[in-house]
Amino acid sequence: MHMHKFEKIWLAFGIGALVVFLVTIGVSAFYLGNKPPSCLTTINPEKVNQTKPFTEPGLHKVEGKEWNYELVYVASAFSYNPVQVEVPLGAKVRVIATTTDVVHGFEVAGTNINMMLEPGYVSEYTTTFDKAGEYLIVCNEYCGAGHHLMSSKIEVVK
Ligand code: CUA
Repeated sequence: MHMHKFEKIWLAFGIGALVVFLVTIGVSAFYLGNKPPSCLTTINPEKVNQTKPFTEPGLHKVEGKEWNYELVYVASAFSYNPVQVEVPLGAKVRVIATTTDVVHGFEVAGTNINMMLEPGYVSEYTTTFDKAGEYLIVCNEYCGAGHHLMSSKIEVVK
């Protein structure tokens, strides 16, 4: 079978790209330990306010965990609870959030915290706030007429 030179080059490129992608995923998953965000924690969206830890939104100090603080958020159209929170500089924080109604976003501007909050699921992210300042939380999933009004604020203080 005769193959044109360009066809061979194109075939080699395709196989090469596939190998590069698989190696990248393999290194990321098995060497760096990256995992897709889990949707394993579920919650009854109608009983969010009666379900721990969402009974007490806000920042809580915790002991004996990999993180020092838990920062709990309940999102609903069109606000976050709490509206504002102070976090001590250098704190290792587990952000735990959910929504009581529709899908909302949870993006902390200027950081790599960016979660989707889905009804029935708990979204979590661990981070260390090592730069003082104000961080705006915005909703980046269109959720209705008040979408653009949805925000909250984290103040990282010394
Ligand atoms: Cu909540 Cu857009």
